[in-house]
Amino acid sequence: MTLRTLIYGARQIVTVTRNNDEKFLCGKDMQAIGIIKSDVVGLSLMIENENIIAIGTDDDIARQFEGIEVDKKIDASGCCILPGFVDAHTHPIWAGDRVHEYAKKLAGATYMEIMREGGGIGFTVEKTKLATDKELLVSLVARLKRMLQAGTTHVECKTGYGLEWSDELRLLKLLEQARSHVSIGISITYCAAHAIPKNRTAEEMTEDIVNKQIKALKKFIDSKEINVNDIDVFCEKGVYDIEQSRRILLAGKEIGLGINFHGDELNYTGSAEMGADIGARAISHLECISDDGIRAMASAKTFAVILPHTGYLLRIEMPPVRRMIDAGVPVALGTDANPNAFSSAMSISMNLACVLCHMSLEEALVAATINSAAALGISDKYGSLEVGKKADLIICRCPSWEHIIYQFGDHTHLILYVLKHGAIVYVKAK
Ligand code: NIG
Ligand code: FE
Repeated sequence: MTLRTLIYGARQIVTVTRNNDEKFLCGKDMQAIGIIKSDVVGLSLMIENENIIAIGTDDDIARQFEGIEVDKKIDASGCCILPGFVDAHTHPIWAGDRVHEYAKKLAGATYMEIMREGGGIGFTVEKTKLATDKELLVSLVARLKRMLQAGTTHVECKTGYGLEWSDELRLLKLLEQARSHVSIGISITYCAAHAIPKNRTAEEMTEDIVNKQIKALKKFIDSKEINVNDIDVFCEKGVYDIEQSRRILLAGKEIGLGINFHGDELNYTGSAEMGADIGARAISHLECISDDGIRAMASAKTFAVILPHTGYLLRIEMPPVRRMIDAGVPVALGTDANPNAFSSAMSISMNLACVLCHMSLEEALVAATINSAAALGISDKYGSLEVGKKADLIICRCPSWEHIIYQFGDHTHLILYVLKHGAIVYVKAK
């Protein structure tokens, strides 16, 4: 059965890419986004089943599809159509919150001070262990729905509040189950190496992950019970060091996972150089990246996933995003949604990226769409509005697309519709 949906009357369609074969944008190209606009005629986008099949003026599309049945029509008069956002970094499955730590951080405690006292990730791991499957699933799905309503149509979801194999496996299974409860697209990243469990050492855990966990994980992947895309590690002073991180990441690569990890966040560790060397697809944070690291990532075309909310909240120096872009590092964005940095809206991350990381509006949008899709290895289907790509998009009521970034925190007011694979999955209440 063929199902056609026509969106018509729009004043802007932000395609993001300009040529159909662009899989990501870097350097000056991040500034030159594709956009169709008109103050005179309306603009249309035609969807057939899950895919975009035509983009043009209302008249052109009406002519092109004359006599062809359309099942659904969406009036987008006065609106802008943008690709759905792709959130390249989140930790959405956990129990308990850390509002008490938020107060401590505001009073001056650092992330690592809190972690060393048994708070931080350790606190969340304990609470997660105590929660039932149902509690974890319900809260996970609620968080994913919030993201979808904020315009995110695909999200990277990390495990990492289990640490030990049986606990991580439980999180993986629940992430799989979530797919049937919410329409958002999900890429799963295995992040058992997120912290060191109590009474264990980093070396012991590295052995455990490399020799036991990843082998056990492979069985679940091979049997197709669980889909895991990437392997992650928190490469940081006092957590996993550079050699332990390299071993874990390479063991993941060996079973076919993409390398996508936390690095150079609170201290310089050489994560960027190491990641580029082992063929990482993406490295997140990078607040403390070196010049050599920037050069290495630029030449390996490893994505820098910038998480401005985290730096903002922890009051740490922002990553040198301007220098990264100028050097040719492909830059992507994520919310880092987790109990430390509680947020789910990519429009807020884009605003922070512009103000605090000195990105332009265009660069922030590229980083939140085509580049974040590429950071997850899915930009052949997602991240831009092109004929042949999946119809993952948002319709916003605003005079020009920039308002979705400019009107800080007002996405609930601006986003009228969210479409995933051509289906309407969110409509703003009248
Ligand atoms: O990306 N840095 C490590 N992981 C997360 C924080 C997770 C947590 O504190 O619970 C991050 O910021
Ligand atoms: Fe993270």
